[in-house]
Amino acid sequence: MAEDLHIETGSKADKYRALLPQLKSLLAGETDQIANLANTAAALKETFDFFWVGFYLVKGDELVLGPFQGPVACTRIRRGRGVCGTAWERAEALLVPDVDAFPGHIACSSRSRSEIVLPLKHADGTVWGVLDIDSEHLGHFGLIDLRFLEEIIQLL
Ligand code: SME
Repeated sequence: MAEDLHIETGSKADKYRALLPQLKSLLAGETDQIANLANTAAALKETFDFFWVGFYLVKGDELVLGPFQGPVACTRIRRGRGVCGTAWERAEALLVPDVDAFPGHIACSSRSRSEIVLPLKHADGTVWGVLDIDSEHLGHFGLIDLRFLEEIIQLL
């Protein structure tokens, strides 16, 4: 595809539905993982104007900051720490409607109020990274996001 996105107007689900095939063809033409993570973060930021969207990658016993869009962020997160480290440890997606109510939440920015984190898994189920999306609004993420983001991370 051309390196520009057509962004649907309409509901969140409409936007995800329009984004998915475009992202699929964008990623299909490239084998470099960092390039694909970078374009995925940019496409999500451009489509939804999320406050922060990006990847943390498993390196040893830590997550290390990967490609992202948004304000500068913490670079290293230990396994089991914060929302990202917990999603990694449990190998499951976490929807956090109010970050202040999540024990151990790591506040990279005081403007972040809610978030969704999905683990990225190899075929054998081991986690190689996480997708982390933050919003300035409480309760910004729900099952629609979860459903479509699960599809998006299958492309990576
Ligand atoms: N909020 C995350 C830390 C990463 S920043 O939000 C970009 C957490 O608690 O895992």
